[in-house]
Amino acid sequence: MRSKTLALLAAGLGTALTLTACGANQAAPSGSGGTSDTAGSSGGGIPVGVILPETATSARWEGFDKPMLEAAMKAKGLDPDIQNAQGDVQKFTTLADGMISQGVKVLVIASINSEVGSAVAAKAKAQGIPTIDYDRLNLGGSSDYYVSFDNVKVGELQGQGLADALKGKPGAQVIEIEGAPTDNNATLFYEGQQKVLKPLYDNGTLKLVQSQKIDNWDNQKGGTTFEQILTGNGGAVDGVVAANDGLAGAVITVLQKNGLNGKVPVTGQDATADGLKAVLRGDQYMTVFKPIKEEAENTAALAALLAKGDTAGADALAKQTSDDPTGNRTVKSVLLTPKLTTKDTVKEPVSQGYVKAADICGGDLASVCAQLGIS
Ligand code: BGC
Repeated sequence: MRSKTLALLAAGLGTALTLTACGANQAAPSGSGGTSDTAGSSGGGIPVGVILPETATSARWEGFDKPMLEAAMKAKGLDPDIQNAQGDVQKFTTLADGMISQGVKVLVIASINSEVGSAVAAKAKAQGIPTIDYDRLNLGGSSDYYVSFDNVKVGELQGQGLADALKGKPGAQVIEIEGAPTDNNATLFYEGQQKVLKPLYDNGTLKLVQSQKIDNWDNQKGGTTFEQILTGNGGAVDGVVAANDGLAGAVITVLQKNGLNGKVPVTGQDATADGLKAVLRGDQYMTVFKPIKEEAENTAALAALLAKGDTAGADALAKQTSDDPTGNRTVKSVLLTPKLTTKDTVKEPVSQGYVKAADICGGDLASVCAQLGIS
């Protein structure tokens, strides 16, 4: 199936494809023999396309989403073609065009931003292909279904985590390093955080130094931005909201340079191996564990129903709704429950198979893992 995508793309785009595919890291589709011409014939089952947004913003996309979607979709009799756009909107569009002409029966969209995600959904719709927004809702889009987490709750857990960590430190100074302004999730995370933190800022329990959104969730930029804010505040900080583990890692590197790591609680999200290690080490106070396996399984179940035209079945599964204020509509949704993870509960994502104990318990962390019964 992938070779068909490549063949079609190559025919349509000539050298542009070569440049795009080879210019973006390891993202070129593999296994192109150029011989297959039957969509969906490679693994058997109904062909379904999945486009993931990036790799660099979070280890989740390649580490959790990709393998979990693959397994869940195969278990539902689907033949998934899962590609990653590597943060390149042009590549995102090219991948979608290829999947649409390849004849996928459903397209699952985890978009880089609402603009490209909505454009792709509209193209698919024009060809009669149902689309599912995955994890990120495309504002102003046309997908009939959305599978994600309760993202306001994710933010509340981050706000609560920081508030707990700073108890007993009245007037503690907080810096907020937020996600991409073009990702609706980042807006919802912020909304949830502020539900907890704003009253504390307002009554002086905590003091907000500065809140900064980071374009494209760029981890490196998150680190340099945090460093500038810290310097501008005379090197003083007592707590940091970092919207995910990637940004938290960049913040912790700066704290380390200033001898502040382990003293200043930092939040996170995604329960990545690096995030969990930082939590075990005491450099990061918490992360948010989002059971992505459930997200993948619900998406696979929805896709299987939609591929068969069973919208009644799909509606019965997607019983919640999400607001799209730009499109002035609500979208049928499955919204799963995130969990607060601190040192005491790092064990959970490990026992559920998200990360291996061996990946987080090496070297200096062996004894803390032993104490916590992580093996
Ligand atoms: C996802 C997070 C992820 C972030 C950066 C968000 O839309 O919900 O899990 O950390 O994007 O990739």
